[in-house]
Amino acid sequence: MLFYYCFISVFFIRFFGQDPSTAPRRRPSTRWIPTALLQPPPSSSPLAKKGDSVLDLCCGSGDLAFLLSEKVGPNGQIAAYRQRRRSKLCCKNTKCVEGNAVELPFFESYFDAITIGYGLTNVVDGSKAMEEMCRVLKKGSKVSVLYFNKSTQPLITLIQDLMVDYVIVHVASGHGLGSEYGYLKNSIKEYLTGDELEKLALEVGFSSAKHFEVGEGIMGNLVATR
Ligand SMILES: C[S@@+](CC[C@H](N)C(=O)[O-])C[C@H]1O[C@@H](n2cnc3c(N)ncnc32)[C@H](O)[C@@H]1O
Ligand SMILES: *[C@@H]1O[C@H](CO)[C@@H](O)[C@H](O)[C@H]1NC(C)=O
Repeated sequence: MLFYYCFISVFFIRFFGQDPSTAPRRRPSTRWIPTALLQPPPSSSPLAKKGDSVLDLCCGSGDLAFLLSEKVGPNGQIAAYRQRRRSKLCCKNTKCVEGNAVELPFFESYFDAITIGYGLTNVVDGSKAMEEMCRVLKKGSKVSVLYFNKSTQPLITLIQDLMVDYVIVHVASGHGLGSEYGYLKNSIKEYLTGDELEKLALEVGFSSAKHFEVGEGIMGNLVATR
């Protein structure tokens, strides 16, 4: 129990960085993003490199998009995609695109990589979104999907629920993002297990898919290759 308490504290700090009331948000906090998301096992070769075109789906406040924009450099490009646009994101190589993840306005085989952090459960038709991701990815390129690890152990599920209710939603409200995270409460239950995610990826056309536990198994990362 103590271990999980410590983990939650670490997660809290990593997820949102500084206290928003004391730190004006000059640049997004990227500390919550597990390195695994951008350097997925087992190859541990980076998901995105200099000059790549990367799509960050369900980009939220754009923390992940910001980190990616630094990775791809000035010759790369990031499409930060979300349902409602906010004008805050503005790195030179990053474009904000508004739309639904089930209908991506991009050509086939366009992107070198796709990321989606805490977003797949928001999309009502997750399998259609996976299909769209597969379509716009180049052959051999990867998508990295980060979310909680849907556990079969009731205690872990309870801890995740408490984390969402009392930590994430509360702190997100401080960032004016309460509504973006409020829905999370029941979403872990509706989400898929690692095995189900792998199966879904293969069904929609990815050639391989592997789910990894991240952060002591509290979170999970699906890596699928087109
Ligand atoms: C919890 S936030 C994701 C956090 C984000 N990845 C980050 O790095 O800060 C969820 C995001 O999903 C977006 N979203 C929800 N449903 C969507 C859909 N059907 N298509 C595209 N974006 C969607 C919301 O607009 C919101 O920005
Ligand atoms: C992660 O989820 C899987 C089921 O999808 C479960 O078997 C495993 O125990 C979970 N890991 C942890 C640490 O709860």
